[in-house]
Amino acid sequence: MGERWQAVDDYIADRLLGADDALAATLANNETQGLPPIDVSAAQGKMLFLLAQMAGARRILEVGTLGGYSTIWLARALPAGGQLVTLELEPHHAAVARENLECAGVSDKVDIRLGNAADSLAAMTAGDPFDFVFIDADKQSNALYVSEAIRLGRPGMTIIVDNVVREGGVLEADSADERIIGTRALFDMLRADPRLDATAVQTVGAKGWDGFVLARVR
Ligand code: SAH
Ligand code: DHB
Ligand code: MG
Repeated sequence: MGERWQAVDDYIADRLLGADDALAATLANNETQGLPPIDVSAAQGKMLFLLAQMAGARRILEVGTLGGYSTIWLARALPAGGQLVTLELEPHHAAVARENLECAGVSDKVDIRLGNAADSLAAMTAGDPFDFVFIDADKQSNALYVSEAIRLGRPGMTIIVDNVVREGGVLEADSADERIIGTRALFDMLRADPRLDATAVQTVGAKGWDGFVLARVR
């Protein structure tokens, strides 16, 4: 099925997304510089852009920058004066992202913070709250990232968490894989937390079979 999923994503991109030099250059630069191809797909990137615009987001937080592919989509959704803070552990990833954001003309809107996201988040205070949060880093910390997002956000904020299905791996209750354990801990936290409403949507396409959590803080 994977080939057909890819072909349909190509069709969607051809009909609805159009050519995009900055995003194509970003993916090419990521590959040249040895970054893993684990960015969101083009269709998913456009979805993030649309969701951020629908939410009227003026302040966006991203956890997990990689080469800034998703960052560019999200930064483009911001109105004039809007800001995006993105957290990245690996200095090389952050350096490549800086180049890509510059090339895409959005670097003035984006603040890349280098370090372990848990530490970067702990250092942030709740003033000037975020409207929209995209979580896409180490999966074992996802529950922590959601609770930090709530602390740093406002009522009505949107939270998206990437990669919560992993080809059905989420069902493996006895998994020793920290990413699966972390994903299941995220679902348990979302189920128990009265501060938000949440769902998860499975996806297929250029990135295989996966899915994302969509949550709204009450
Ligand atoms: N959002 C990107 C993809 C992110 S891939 C896109 O769609 O384009 C996940 C990223 O999270 C990697 O760059 C990895 O280095 C980073 N990461 C992993 N653990 C982290 C941590 N503890 N703190 C911050 N970033 C982390
Ligand atoms: C991985 C991480 C991602 O954020 C993603 O979208 C796909 C894969 C990973 O760590 O394998
Ligand atoms: Mg991801």
